[in-house]
Amino acid sequence: MGKSKLFLGIESSCDETAAALVRSDKEILSNVVFDQLDLHAAFGGVVPEIAARAHAERLDLVTAQALQEAGCGLADVDGIAVAAGPGLIGGVMSGVVFAKALAAASGKPLFGINHLAGHALSPRLSDDLAFPFLLLLVSGGHCQFLLVSGPTEFTRLGGTIDDAPGEAFDKSARLMGLGYPGGPLIEQAAAQGNAERFSFPRPLLDREGYDMSFSGLKTALRREVDGLAAEQGGLYRQDISDLSAAFQTAVADVLRIKTARAISAAMNQNPVTALAVAGGVAANQTLRAVLEGVAQDAQIGFAAPPLSLCTDNGAMIAWSALERAALGEGGDDPASIVARPRWPLDTNATPLLGSGKKGSKA
Ligand code: KG4
Ligand code: ZN
Repeated sequence: MGKSKLFLGIESSCDETAAALVRSDKEILSNVVFDQLDLHAAFGGVVPEIAARAHAERLDLVTAQALQEAGCGLADVDGIAVAAGPGLIGGVMSGVVFAKALAAASGKPLFGINHLAGHALSPRLSDDLAFPFLLLLVSGGHCQFLLVSGPTEFTRLGGTIDDAPGEAFDKSARLMGLGYPGGPLIEQAAAQGNAERFSFPRPLLDREGYDMSFSGLKTALRREVDGLAAEQGGLYRQDISDLSAAFQTAVADVLRIKTARAISAAMNQNPVTALAVAGGVAANQTLRAVLEGVAQDAQIGFAAPPLSLCTDNGAMIAWSALERAALGEGGDDPASIVARPRWPLDTNATPLLGSGKKGSKA
């Protein structure tokens, strides 16, 4: 066993410019995220060109701050990791070019990391989780069940065939006149709501397997919003709370039932020790509680990273590279690292139809 390694992780694939310093003993020395909410709020979603420009302007600042907060310099770092996709190509490219320059100037090894692998391995950074485990990755751009057998070994069992849940949260929030990102606002509103007042669909439950669909849910919500607007001229606060509660309960029901099925299937293939959830939507307390219940019923462990590791961050990127380094890898040839808009984790799985806010890629 050598001494603990220190890696810098850089993330810029969507609307967070992030950098973090993480050690192989799982200590996170710094985890700095500059979000771009103010830049995109007026548009109700991420505008790729604005995001790319903001990343290019902020990557050096966020990295300098991460190094400063960690109390170290580039010379102390053993490796540099960068999210090389999938994501909005302008942002990913900014990160890759920046990381290549840092690596060339400092002579440090460089690792090109799949952003989804970052999310998938984040539960191992926060919890002591052994391979293989079943991961439900739920974010603004993705929703899939993955069997995670090693730092680069992923088998996709199923996923959304249209919108990702985070995208459905964001679009539904917009329909109700709430801000962006919609997930936390709907969660807040739902806390005061009556989920029974509206009945929303639970799509694809009658179909075998673990594929999911969330776009119909948003359409059903739109119908109710239009109905209320025609009837009473707009939405009262209680309407928003009730709609939010019914929406969130419908998402939770679909995830609960499909996750239970995915666990049984994973058990037949390769006994999993735990269910882990990751990605921005995993920040939702109701969904976390529901999924923890599913794991308990199946008598397996449950892991959900803290909120700061659920939404996009640099620590998960650094950690993914540290996992590869622990297997003896010395880094990628920088010339082989290219920014990729699409980059499925399981290259053997047939592409899903789904497309998130970052574009279809899984
Ligand atoms: O993982 P992430 O930061 O970025 C992507 O890779 O997509 O996830 C962002 C998504 C957004 O759609 C946001 O609305 C959703 O995660 N989100 C939530 C919550 N917090 C963030 N969704 C539901 N409940 C939350 N509390
Ligand atoms: Zn993400």
